[in-house]
Amino acid sequence: MSSSTESTTRIVRPARSFQGSVTVPGDKSISHRYGMLAGIAEGTSKLQNFSTGADPHSTLGCMEALGATVTKGPGTSVEVTGTAGAFRQPAGDLDCGNSGSTMRMLAGLVASHPHTFTMIGDASLSGRPMERIRKPLSAMGAKIDLVDGHAPMTIHGGPLKAIDFDTPIPSAQVKTAVLFAGLQAEGVTSLSEAVRTRDHSEHALRAFGAKLERNGERLSIAGGQKLKAIDAVVPGDISSAAFFLCAALLFPDSNLVLDSLGMNPTRASLLDVITMLGGRIKVLMVEEHHGETIGTIQVNRDASGLKGAEISGALSAQIIDELPVIAAIAPYTNNGVIIRDAKELRVKESDRIALVAKNLKAMGAEFTEYEDGLAIPGNQKLHGAEIDSGSDHRIAMAFSVAALRASSENIIHGAEAAAISFPEFFNFLDELAQR
Ligand code: S3P
Repeated sequence: MSSSTESTTRIVRPARSFQGSVTVPGDKSISHRYGMLAGIAEGTSKLQNFSTGADPHSTLGCMEALGATVTKGPGTSVEVTGTAGAFRQPAGDLDCGNSGSTMRMLAGLVASHPHTFTMIGDASLSGRPMERIRKPLSAMGAKIDLVDGHAPMTIHGGPLKAIDFDTPIPSAQVKTAVLFAGLQAEGVTSLSEAVRTRDHSEHALRAFGAKLERNGERLSIAGGQKLKAIDAVVPGDISSAAFFLCAALLFPDSNLVLDSLGMNPTRASLLDVITMLGGRIKVLMVEEHHGETIGTIQVNRDASGLKGAEISGALSAQIIDELPVIAAIAPYTNNGVIIRDAKELRVKESDRIALVAKNLKAMGAEFTEYEDGLAIPGNQKLHGAEIDSGSDHRIAMAFSVAALRASSENIIHGAEAAAISFPEFFNFLDELAQR
């Protein structure tokens, strides 16, 4: 969160059930990609259900600074008139706020343009690793200055050449930076991932008219392609829905309906984990827009109660954003939850392993902390506590969910951080939590 945002405290009282139907706001990941590609495309893109989170709006601010015209409203619709392939020299720094997605993916998109771009962010973003994008983009010919591997990041743009790249860490942001740079490089850029990460960029690029090929695990994109504006509806954010899905697991008679929900298979392994934990998910409707799966689901808890789960390997990478809330409800499971191979959690908006550990401890839970995860035994009773969000949206929301089953109220400090991805979170939580 930007340091100018005032810290707010929320009290979350225990609940006795979790019921209702909700439409979560537009997906953060997809909103970033549509916003960026609309900004470089030719023509006016009409984007409906654009994320209400602060992060994708940081992306829109950058697109305006780069020469796109952005008109917000009515409601959550956004119109972006693109620069037809030619970003201008921004008058000042590109402010990415709290958004790693903005900084990393935009770096790939601007690198071929003959200007100097300085990208800045808040204290959290300025501590996050950027070397992971400098490496491939430098190999393509970009000149990028970092301070000790971190932002501020200055990109001296110029012609790029294609590369063959194998992503060393599972990161959709790094993959996207390479694809966006490859779109404007000379030659055919190819890339393979050790773990297949979210593929929204692939769908978005195709939606805007780019040709991409997949050969087994190798993805390739030819340079010099021009994009055309689209009309699109952004699916609901499954990572925001995750908080309510986990809340629904906490009570035997929960009933939750989520509509217009993004169910892209590279994001939907969360639903498998919810089932593993004891959720019963009924898919009521599914359709597809621009390659993205959108559906309506109903969630109840299985009569056998809240089981446990072991999450490791590729699965940890695929549900990396949802791990904090799964960890936060783990003490209430019957068999506990083990999370491993999730070291990336330490370099998110906060060190999420350390903050989950700190807040679980405050609520009286027992657990073991590992460098790459946590082991949290089940059958524990937690009490209310003072929660430190660490200005991290997902920590604030994860422990607001854990609070629903605590024996007394929780005080969430830094609750305003939720607005980074989900400004409506506390209102929806109040509506759905039955007291
Ligand atoms: C995102 C990718 C993930 C995720 C982040 C959004 C994206 O980050 O944690 O919230 O939109 O591509 P990494 O690429 O660092 O894994």
